[in-house]
Amino acid sequence: TENVIVDCDPGHDDALALLLAVGDPRLRVLGVTTVAGNQTLDKTTRNALRMLALAGVDGVPVAAGCDRPLVGDLSVAEYIHGVSGLDGPDLDLPVADVAGVHAVELMRRLITESAEPVTLIALGPLTNVALLLRRHPEVAPGVRRIVFMGGSTGRGNTTPYGEFNIVTDPEAADIVLRSGLPTTMIGLNVTHQALATERVIADFRGLGTRLGTVCAELMTFFASAYLREFDFPHPPVHDPIAVATVIDASIVRTVAAPVAVELTGAYTRGATVVDLHHRTGDTPNADVAVGLDVPAFWHLLMTAVRRLGAP
Ligand code: BDR
Ligand code: CA
Repeated sequence: TENVIVDCDPGHDDALALLLAVGDPRLRVLGVTTVAGNQTLDKTTRNALRMLALAGVDGVPVAAGCDRPLVGDLSVAEYIHGVSGLDGPDLDLPVADVAGVHAVELMRRLITESAEPVTLIALGPLTNVALLLRRHPEVAPGVRRIVFMGGSTGRGNTTPYGEFNIVTDPEAADIVLRSGLPTTMIGLNVTHQALATERVIADFRGLGTRLGTVCAELMTFFASAYLREFDFPHPPVHDPIAVATVIDASIVRTVAAPVAVELTGAYTRGATVVDLHHRTGDTPNADVAVGLDVPAFWHLLMTAVRRLGAP
């Protein structure tokens, strides 16, 4: 098993990613940390607690982190994830208490106390992770690698060339990509292949558990938002792919490449500039996902949700 910390901003796809992380026996989730992104920090934190409660998981600490990007103001994705950040299902249920420490402090403690190096799985803006690396550089040897959902080898989704997580906090992404730690980038170029089709939604419902129904309702809401905003017939389920990569590296094909974050572009701030063909001569700083085994990915996710859900 691999020790992981999941940093997230649930978020419909973050919610499924959390289920995959706690539902697959190959990962040990040491803690969950939350960040502002898809919604405000209070909402993303409540949503993380709700998903863990629904999954019947207790004993995994949840800590709230940064309530805004390192620079500039927060702009949430309410148009995709709704007012609650997790619109669709009825998620009114008792939840555990949030840890009494900041996410960065929880990450520091968990990494320091872990006998094995820890993999950080980052599913939202990289604010907490960047702050951890700046404030506690001594934890670096305890970090096996940072797998993040963000960026793209091609076009964006929030601006023409900017993906939401990177656009929300470009400076944080820049810090992480310059950190010298091993990073894996799961960008839109692969996540746009993992689509929650009617078939996927029916499979969730067919599990016959409360969790399966919640997943189906989450994806139904997500689908309507993506249809309205992007005219996509099916919504891309981004974040669980980052978790799946840690469970089974063969889910994605990666190439080592230099990745820079555009911090100043007049039109492209927050774009990831991926030198796939080694034109810059720069040293690769990321393993960039370029291919996805779509059926294997859905099998992993469905199996985890089935395993967690008591009827
Ligand atoms: C990313 O942005 C968020 O809306 C999703 O949760 C995902 O992490 C996709 O661009
Ligand atoms: Ca997310």
